[in-house]
Amino acid sequence: MLNRVQASIDLKALQHNFSIARSHSRHKNAARVAAVIKANAYGHGLEQAANALDDADLFGVTDVREALTLKNSRADKPILVLQGLIHEDDLKLVAQHNFQLVVHSASQLAHIDDTLGRLTLKAPLTLWLKMDSGMGRLGISPQDYAAAYRALQSKPYIDSVVMMTHLANSSMPESALNTQQIEAFRQQQAQLQTPLKEDECITSIPSSSGILSGLPVECDWARPGIMLYGSSPFNFSEEKLRREQFDLQAVMTLQARIIAIKDLKKGDNVGYCSQFICPKDMTIGIVSIGYADGYPSNAPNGTPVMVGGKKTGTVGRVSMDMIGVDLSEIPEAKVGDLATLWGNELSLDEVAAKTGILSYNLTCSVARRVNFEYS
Ligand SMILES: Cc1ncc(COP(=O)(O)O)c(C=O)c1O
Repeated sequence: MLNRVQASIDLKALQHNFSIARSHSRHKNAARVAAVIKANAYGHGLEQAANALDDADLFGVTDVREALTLKNSRADKPILVLQGLIHEDDLKLVAQHNFQLVVHSASQLAHIDDTLGRLTLKAPLTLWLKMDSGMGRLGISPQDYAAAYRALQSKPYIDSVVMMTHLANSSMPESALNTQQIEAFRQQQAQLQTPLKEDECITSIPSSSGILSGLPVECDWARPGIMLYGSSPFNFSEEKLRREQFDLQAVMTLQARIIAIKDLKKGDNVGYCSQFICPKDMTIGIVSIGYADGYPSNAPNGTPVMVGGKKTGTVGRVSMDMIGVDLSEIPEAKVGDLATLWGNELSLDEVAAKTGILSYNLTCSVARRVNFEYS
């Protein structure tokens, strides 16, 4: 059956991108690599991504529910629950399945101590104690961090405690906040390492932008997400920071069928609210994809689209399941052809730059009704 809209997922590209993350981490940053496959692998398919990423040392997911789903297909790999405990019962499931867990507040530490102190565990747990070094989101403050770390480390239910933090601005390597965050983290690391042997204090700092930025984020664990899916973690409007510069390959190619072609005259309207009025006589293709498929509803006129290997742009407002595309310079295009919205021949970063929507958001938004194919 021919699909109206299809997302083709290239698992070899995913593996290739992982190897780029690994090589940057090994040389510059970290020895071990946690593949961040939360949010259904950024919209690419959790289980398929996990099954392809044999080389990952660990998988990072959002919550216990995702961890349980993943456990069914990848029981052989450690799984880290990045958002920590959401529900009371989460901790029992964490203990039962020996998931690794991010802990980010004093109240969570108290709850963990209270609950795990009373349970007989199959195996002690690895907890990732998160420091809020300046992101202003989740984590223990630097002032309270060393005490919390030491208290946790002495508990009988603990195997190891990973020191972690998350950089707010590593996608803007020049930002002074990076230095502040890294210094705050290093200070606590130095305190904690004094009585310990250096290699006992396991650390984790960078996500994709930290890995590729050249910032001084040396540590034991890197946590790449977006770069695995072939998108640059940096400012998309700067061409020198797009995926090609880092030899990243597109993992998702999103395509949809042209369902009508029409010749319009100068002054004719295309789509709702007259967002596009033909400035000259034009040939317009109507492509069967819209915001109900996850195509961004705010895409302006001229958002890039590829047809028959040629780059063109959208015309008119995005409808629920249709967009208009300028085919004036592509006379060979015909009804039934596929238009590429992003993927191997059109960078997700370019679409992100034009629409102002993060590439993360673009792939995460692809709707369930879209047909996914894996190769
Ligand atoms: C704690 C943590 N680490 C790593 C990542 C991966 O980040 P990126 O996709 O920018 O590589 C995320 C993503 O939000 C995260 O929250």
